[in-house]
Amino acid sequence: IFNSGLSGLGWLVERQSDDKGRLQIMIQLIRGFKDILPGEVEQWQEIERISRELFEDFGFKEIRIPIMERTELFKRSIGEDTDIVEKEMYTFPDRKGDLITLRPEATASIVRAYIQHKLFAKDPVQKFYLLGPMFRRERPQKGRYRQFYQIDAEIFGVASPLVDVQLILILVTLFDRLQVPDISAHINTLGCPQCRPGFKAALQEMLMSVSDRLCSNCIRRRDRNPLRVLDCKVPDCRAALKEAPSILDHLCSKCREDFAEVRCSLDKLKVPYVIDKRLVRGLDYYARTTFEIQTGSLGAQSAVAGGGRYDGLVKELGGPQIPATGFAIGFDRLAEISGLKPADYERKPDIFVAALGEKSQSLAFEWTCRLGLTGICAETDFSNKSLKSQMKRADRLGASYVLIVGDQELEEGTAILRNMATKEQTSISL
Ligand code: HAM
Repeated sequence: IFNSGLSGLGWLVERQSDDKGRLQIMIQLIRGFKDILPGEVEQWQEIERISRELFEDFGFKEIRIPIMERTELFKRSIGEDTDIVEKEMYTFPDRKGDLITLRPEATASIVRAYIQHKLFAKDPVQKFYLLGPMFRRERPQKGRYRQFYQIDAEIFGVASPLVDVQLILILVTLFDRLQVPDISAHINTLGCPQCRPGFKAALQEMLMSVSDRLCSNCIRRRDRNPLRVLDCKVPDCRAALKEAPSILDHLCSKCREDFAEVRCSLDKLKVPYVIDKRLVRGLDYYARTTFEIQTGSLGAQSAVAGGGRYDGLVKELGGPQIPATGFAIGFDRLAEISGLKPADYERKPDIFVAALGEKSQSLAFEWTCRLGLTGICAETDFSNKSLKSQMKRADRLGASYVLIVGDQELEEGTAILRNMATKEQTSISL
């Protein structure tokens, strides 16, 4: 097998000669996408199970939404000047020419569903969770994929900052249950439409004074959306922004009180946190509380979850003025740092029926079907192999028991049951 650099599609196809020396082309998966195979998927299932259980304990209901939406939905909610909308969305015209986008996140779609189905009519307070794939065309690296998965939670209809605290508590609890080491909760506030303009003006003024040290992206954003500059990862820009003003010095009294309540309540719940005045998040819909869970064990991709309050978005997307808040966890990143081991959750056969001879094999097939239907995982071999090789396979599969049956045993109405852990064998009546 060799990777062809010549075609320019080296990562897409691998060429291989078949046994007659003819060239075969094998199609590889798309760059930045990945398969989650048995051996890994058991850990994902366990993470899903524990997450669902925690959400349901806190009164969240599952919601499932499409993976494609009209492009406009993401432009209007995430913001035109964000990295996601500017350069990361998978957007294409469908056959009628309508622009559609593979969802880069779930919040916008959940808000759309909340408005479209008037879910607020019965009770504006609604809590949702969602597990599923998202798509962003970022540069792939460890912890960063083009199809990745999120565990998402949203709360609608509660203005109190105490629910922001509840979300942070859920996150910290979940990470603890999933045995994730070395995490810290970073919190900030982004102010509200009343006090943010003052901060933006102060930031813009400061940015003018360091313009010669900023990248071209930041210069453009300085005028249109200066908060985004705080998010820039370019080291020179980060250095230039060391003396940037803090939103915390520009808050109105309501935002100041809310942020104090968040901190006080986190203290009461004994949830440790770090105040991070640079935390602006990569999406435009946030106001007031924002937070991220960061880890030291993922290299450059330190954010394993992020979220915050987005009180204006429901109205912005055509619904009533209803406050909302939420978060999303990066599932792939979480799986990489969780202490849960897939092997601990792998289902192994309870019994392997090693059948010798035609009659026994046909019975073994019947038995394994019947055992499977009663919830006992049973395997057998269909290829008439020797006892030795069937025993080897049973061992490889990790079967707890092997039932050995041959035509002679059948005639006697017995079979041998072997306990694979103790190696004990007993003759049992069929
Ligand atoms: P976000 O910060 O863009 O927020 O994404 C949340 C998490 O998704 C990140 O912290 C990260 O762990 C994971 N993530 C993002 N991009 C990638 C990628 N390319 N590969 C792997 N993991 C990735 C949101 O998406 C908001 N919708 C969160 C939210 C919900 N805010 C309010 N409600």
